[in-house]
Amino acid sequence: MRRKLIAGNWKMNGSRAFSKNLVRGLLDGISGAELSCDLLVCPAACLLETVGGLVAGSRIALGGQDCHGAEAGAHTGDISAAMLKDAGCAYVILGHSERRQDHGEADALVRAKAKAALAAGLTPIVCVGETATERDAGRTLAVVETQLAGSLPDLESGQALVIAYEPVWAIGSGRTPSTSEVGEVHAAVRRSLEFSLGGETAAAVRILYGGSMKPGNAAELLAVQDVDGGLIGGASLKAEDFLGIARACA
Ligand code: PGA
Repeated sequence: MRRKLIAGNWKMNGSRAFSKNLVRGLLDGISGAELSCDLLVCPAACLLETVGGLVAGSRIALGGQDCHGAEAGAHTGDISAAMLKDAGCAYVILGHSERRQDHGEADALVRAKAKAALAAGLTPIVCVGETATERDAGRTLAVVETQLAGSLPDLESGQALVIAYEPVWAIGSGRTPSTSEVGEVHAAVRRSLEFSLGGETAAAVRILYGGSMKPGNAAELLAVQDVDGGLIGGASLKAEDFLGIARACA
């Protein structure tokens, strides 16, 4: 059985004061509570130290929002996977649609980053998902399968991988696909992982759904077959909302 992962993608939001407040709210909220999922927060790079200090030793893991594909060197403004690891991260989000759009990140680059993340001992969360135009054209599965084929790294034994299916049109829009549409894509992702990684390795990969997940729709989305958690943007910025989603994990 795959344990669900509820991951907060804080994006370019927050400050040290805001982060302290939010993390304290999360820690208070889970204190003494049974959790049937893993929790992860991914703040902006400059907040990793503040947030990392607060979550260290707790049941909340720390993650980055991006890393460079190279180990080190002349890459002004970039952060290596080893730096994230050194800052206390266990995960890194890669190939988010906002990075694909804002920074022109293509599949091959996402794969290089994922390889670097694995080499540094991080678990990559590789994001895929179709635009509204692609969905309307009936190309959702083809787009997602092409992104997976191009972005996924090879895995060595013991290395973990997470996929996030995030329809671009559902991110921050308040719109979500139906549960049957989500189920169709997650099943296709699982099949494609089985094909590329083999059945046993594929069975261990968690496939998150992301895009306007909220406490009000989390239970039904998280109950869909092959939905192994959520990647949460907006609702991860409020402790009560994020924990509401975590509590919706069966
Ligand atoms: P959202 O963002 O929850 O605000 O839609 C999800 C994401 O982009 O990861």
